[in-house]
Amino acid sequence: MAILITGGAGYIGSHAMVEFLEAGKELVCVDNLSNSKETSLQRVKQITGKEVKFYKVDLLDIDALEKVFLENNIESCIHFAGLKAVGESCSKPLLYYHNNITGTLNLCKLLSKYNAKRIVFSSSATVYGKPASVPITEDFPLSTTNPYGETKLMIERILKDLWASDNEWSVSILRYFNPIGAHKSGLIGEDPRDIPNNLLPYVAQVALGKRECLSVHGNDYNTHDGTGVRDYIHVVDLAKAHLCALERAEKITGVEYFNIGTGKGYSVLDVVKAYEEATGAKVNYKIGPRRPGDIDECYANPEKAYKILGWKAQYNLEDMCKDSYNWQSKNPNGYEE
Ligand code: NAD
Ligand code: UFG
Repeated sequence: MAILITGGAGYIGSHAMVEFLEAGKELVCVDNLSNSKETSLQRVKQITGKEVKFYKVDLLDIDALEKVFLENNIESCIHFAGLKAVGESCSKPLLYYHNNITGTLNLCKLLSKYNAKRIVFSSSATVYGKPASVPITEDFPLSTTNPYGETKLMIERILKDLWASDNEWSVSILRYFNPIGAHKSGLIGEDPRDIPNNLLPYVAQVALGKRECLSVHGNDYNTHDGTGVRDYIHVVDLAKAHLCALERAEKITGVEYFNIGTGKGYSVLDVVKAYEEATGAKVNYKIGPRRPGDIDECYANPEKAYKILGWKAQYNLEDMCKDSYNWQSKNPNGYEE
């Protein structure tokens, strides 16, 4: 019996595959490599010493996807595959809706057809929109501010309706806060295309001298130093949450929602300082204008995940910064030779 990992060549998927392989699970990975490289899978093998069966398949190609089900005994799925750039989703909404929603519909049709009605889905704290307060619990009102976020919310609703129509389903919705860092080995990590949009990859490239200066997007937010506060979580901690979620999904049916964060909020300037202290590198920055759509503060109350899944983040901000720098300095050009 195998676990289907969609988007397994990507940043979070590759880290999750390491954890699942180390736990002795049999995996089948499907990825169209639209935002990743096959090298990440070779690195997963290098870390674990285990082979992963890989299909370069697009979830939009339902016939190719069905072949994966016919050739393997799939019993459950961890669904990472999707496009994730907020800005791009605003300029290419149809691409995002089609890829993320249609891809998920195809996947669910086949999971249903082949009686593998167990799914862990990568959602995001973006479904809380602009939260009225922090920390955020899972019962906060849901809203979105961009097409990417809309796809996450729609998929959450699709999965809920699916369960309502067929109570054999087991659906675990993980709402990730801000994943950063990399595997300790420095063999896998985040490899953004072009100029990074997210804070940590940008900071890492400035620390390494690849970019001159970080632009801090606004210092007039309602936070302790005026810069935006987020809940950064080590990607290995996040990866482990999927193992706990699947274990739970194997025991119960239903739909459950979990915040996956540390419960601690750090500002942009806190992160810059922590990065410098953890690595000894200099992170030059200047204060720039606000980035449209950004919110003041966003951090989780992660207690539900602890109570129900027995999962809790282990790594702190210093670990995250060290591991990010280790990956970036060993792979200054990401997975490219
Ligand atoms: P990523 O882009 O590194 O990984 C996603 C993978 O999915 C890529 O390898 C890509 O090639 C693949 N993919 C995309 N569309 C596909 C399709 N139609 N068919 C097959 N493969 C396809 O992103 P990530 O950071 O690893 O994120 C994984 C998931 O977690 C995504 O769903 C993302 O939206 C969600 N998420 C990420 C963050 C974050 O900050 N990284 C935060 C919250 C939620
Ligand atoms: N920031 C900067 N300069 C940069 C990049 C970011 O100051 O060059 C700031 C942002 O303004 C924000 C903080 O750093 O205050 C974090 O920004 P990120 O872009 O790293 O992360 P976001 O919280 O904006 O967004 C992330 C994901 C989204 C997801 C959201 C909620 O990128 O996909 O978390 O989960 F929806």
